[in-house]
Amino acid sequence: MFQPSDFDRAAVRARAEQFRHQVARRLDGSLTEDEFKPLRLMNGLYLQLHAYMLRVAIPYGTINARQMCQLAKIADVWDRGYGHFTTRQNIQFNWPKLVDVPDMIDALADVGMHAIQTSGNAIRNTTTDAFAGAAADEIADPRPYAELIRQWSTDHPEFQFLPRKFKIAINGARADRAAIRGHDVGLQVVEREGEIGFQVFVGGGLGRTPMIAKELRSFLPVADLLPYLESIVAAWNLAGRRDNKYKARIKITVHELGIETFSEMVEAEFPARRAAFKGADQAILADLKAQFAPPVLPARESESFEAALNVDALLRDWAARSVSPHHNPDYAVVTVSLKDHGAPPGDATSDQMRLLAELAERYGQSELRISHEQNVILPHIAKADLPALFEALRKGGLATANIGLTSDIIACPGMDYCALATARSIPLAQQIATHFRDLGLEQEIGALKIKISGCINACGHHHLGHIGILGLDRAGVENYQITLGGDATETMALGERAGPGFAYTEVIPALERLLRAYLELRENATESFLETLRRLGPDPFKEALYAEAQRHAAQ
Ligand code: HEM
Ligand code: SF4
Repeated sequence: MFQPSDFDRAAVRARAEQFRHQVARRLDGSLTEDEFKPLRLMNGLYLQLHAYMLRVAIPYGTINARQMCQLAKIADVWDRGYGHFTTRQNIQFNWPKLVDVPDMIDALADVGMHAIQTSGNAIRNTTTDAFAGAAADEIADPRPYAELIRQWSTDHPEFQFLPRKFKIAINGARADRAAIRGHDVGLQVVEREGEIGFQVFVGGGLGRTPMIAKELRSFLPVADLLPYLESIVAAWNLAGRRDNKYKARIKITVHELGIETFSEMVEAEFPARRAAFKGADQAILADLKAQFAPPVLPARESESFEAALNVDALLRDWAARSVSPHHNPDYAVVTVSLKDHGAPPGDATSDQMRLLAELAERYGQSELRISHEQNVILPHIAKADLPALFEALRKGGLATANIGLTSDIIACPGMDYCALATARSIPLAQQIATHFRDLGLEQEIGALKIKISGCINACGHHHLGHIGILGLDRAGVENYQITLGGDATETMALGERAGPGFAYTEVIPALERLLRAYLELRENATESFLETLRRLGPDPFKEALYAEAQRHAAQ
């Protein structure tokens, strides 16, 4: 298992100490809030609607049992007994007191964690497939590369004043579970004639101007990864717009210059940068690959699990949603839902975090992952242990069998926490989840991705939802636009706006009309919402959303 180096530990401690002094100077009034702002943003500390918020990095979503326990302790001692796992595979604490933040950061450093580069105009946490290192469809584990990128990008001297934030995602499996083309740079691990390399995409992003990244290189050799990334960031650092923060992201640079011109700029940077890399990065990578080597998994029988499935309907329902193929046929990847009906999506209480840590220790090599869909993954569970694991999760209220269904919603913090919000998103997600459960339609509707953002910044990925919901403010009243047909996978697509928005209380009736129409329109029970939408186009769905509503109003 990967362990931070002594160098890393010392750097994290030094940064914690430095920030303790900065906080003390803010508290005694020597720094104004404006002066303090850039300092706190370098350390993941935001000022939200009601309180500060501390965003803690979980690099590429990988966390061990001890670290998860420490997060639970932090939630209990300095916050309100829970944390919020985010779409960028991190965790946020929503209620810290400024005076306590240095102690929280020290507690993180005790387990090799920190909040560096989780905010501000920096290269952020590289996200990846939450099944990395375990998935049956994996070409190569992307995490050694993600860790190499983390080491290269942390406090990179050339990139201390970027035009805006910069997000990289890397996927090592055949299915894209990291939404790579929705990122500033997306890397797909590919294999060509036995050699591993990367397909490189650039200029994706969501926010107010959503764009799908374009291909920059079809095959980048592994040894060129860092110099090539450095060339991309350098080209953007020079050409990116600093006059308007809404036009500063690399997607706008690529869009305005065109992919050919941008590619020429990158290639012009590349030779000198490549020559400057003398192989130290490759030595580090070799060491990282050894550290991320798959755990030794003893052979286990799986017949007892198959037998239990035949007799236990609850286990069967849960396994159908939560269990995915592992590269070792005796094992499985388990997704634990943090989307219990009616609960805020992505929140976990400290008790739940401790239970997850304990179960990871008992059954899962002490490993856990956070998915960008805001659930927790236990990547290496023997099939023979699945019935016992399910029982333990059930007792802890963590066995909701809804992964990939209507209630497995991504929702941003919205009006409940966020100072930029124009509408609520968490309460809407909670109500959608309970509504369709109470109607008994969730299983019948099947695979569906609903994603909700509380403002145009799109932290809830609404553009990528099969059904996206964007909460806006229309003359002081919440108004929700619905988009249809978004897709966050290897067939990525941006959803299209269906028409005028709905008031808060109208959203759920509108969704019900939409989903009932889908059930009527689908060819058979295996055709998903997205497939039906792609086959028929949006018109019959718009009809359900709007014309039906008008008919009702006229009656
Ligand atoms: C304090 C609360 C937050 C603030 C102030 C905030 C701010 C923003 C802003 C301004 C953008 C637009 C960036 C751009 O277009 O250049 C954005 C995008 C985004 N944020 Fe947040 N955010 C917050 C919380 C979150 C949370 C909790 C998550 C994860 C659940 C998140 C994930 C994202 C993602 C995925 C995007 C879109 C991807 C992209 O960068 O293009 N944010 N955020
Ligand atoms: S989408 Fe808007 S409301 Fe939601 S977290 Fe991002 S900035 Fe806040």
